[in-house]
Amino acid sequence: MVDPFGRHIQYLRVSVTDRCDVRCVYCMSETMSFLPKRDLLSLEELDRLCSAFVGRGGRRLRLTGGEPLVRRGIMTLVRALSRHLESGALGELTLTTNGSLLTKFAADLADCGVRRINVSLDSRNPDTFKAITRWGDVDAVLGGIKAARAAGLAVKVNTVALKGVNEDEIPELLRWAHGEGMDLSLIEVMPLGEVGDLRLDQFLPLSVVRDRLAEHFTLTDIDYKTAGPARYVRVAETGGRLGFITPMTHNFCESCNRMRLTCTGTLYMCLGREDAADLRTPLRASGNDEALHRAIDAAIAGKPRGHDFVIDRRHVRPAVERHMSITGG
Ligand code: GTP
Ligand code: 5AD
Ligand code: SF4
Repeated sequence: MVDPFGRHIQYLRVSVTDRCDVRCVYCMSETMSFLPKRDLLSLEELDRLCSAFVGRGGRRLRLTGGEPLVRRGIMTLVRALSRHLESGALGELTLTTNGSLLTKFAADLADCGVRRINVSLDSRNPDTFKAITRWGDVDAVLGGIKAARAAGLAVKVNTVALKGVNEDEIPELLRWAHGEGMDLSLIEVMPLGEVGDLRLDQFLPLSVVRDRLAEHFTLTDIDYKTAGPARYVRVAETGGRLGFITPMTHNFCESCNRMRLTCTGTLYMCLGREDAADLRTPLRASGNDEALHRAIDAAIAGKPRGHDFVIDRRHVRPAVERHMSITGG
């Protein structure tokens, strides 16, 4: 699967549900309405779409949401997909989660061949955590991370850097994550879906964060790469890896290797664009995957060069109407 810009598409991110058990302020509005359950693809249909992707040479699958672990029966899907790991067709099956339900699911995930997961955690301070997630319980997430590690999963912590909210805590988060042997990635907030003026107020360029960190830590660029967009440095004082995900200030679209499937069967070709293919119709029209593959081919042929996110007072509307929870980060 190669797009018109010569980029090899081998990473599929799947938002298995748009629902979440919290409402992070930069992600969702408090009164977010969710898709009617009848619009969701079944777990079998998600499996068929993911398997079609693997059949085409896709090497990495990441389940996201919303919060993937709130999708009922999620482990049935993970277990089904793990057959592609066993056959060697799939290189990696992973998950991006808010961690709140990991205590329940960690051991099963490991048992299904999941080796590493990314956990979103913007603060370890209970009050700040609550202010960001509206009603989340940080202890549940910290307990979830512990359970995941006890089950043998490698955990990367993802932190959205928010001006005036968690910015002062970043050095502490770094020491903690690295002290525990986990990578940490910082993320710039992106204008996806309507959440009011907050994003502009809270946007913090990671160049600023990096400069501040460099006053206390020695940061050295390294060429460690995952399938994701982070650029990594090694922190001499902690020995750990720190990633910077900078969609706003230094985008990484030229090396984009992914597409995104929603829980309703829409395939988005870029997080920040409307270009999409409806896979649900060909999926349901026939038990054979021919029309499905044609739709995937057409989508790849139309993959845009990249996003053009901006956050400033002249662009108060989000770049795209849909929230991150639809497309899955
Ligand atoms: P790794 O394989 O661990 O590197 O995963 P990843 O960084 O691809 O996945 P993760 O779910 O941890 O992504 C972290 C965040 O990076 C996402 O929530 C998004 O905010 C951002 N991100 C990931 N992929 C893209 C992308 O293609 N475009 C943009 N603009 N942001 C992305
Ligand atoms: N901008 C940047 N990151 C976001 N996330 C959710 N919404 C946004 C946004 N608008 C992050 C979450 C989580 C990941 C799945 O996406 O914090 O780390
Ligand atoms: Fe849920 Fe993640 Fe969005 Fe927070 S950022 S509301 S945890 S989907």
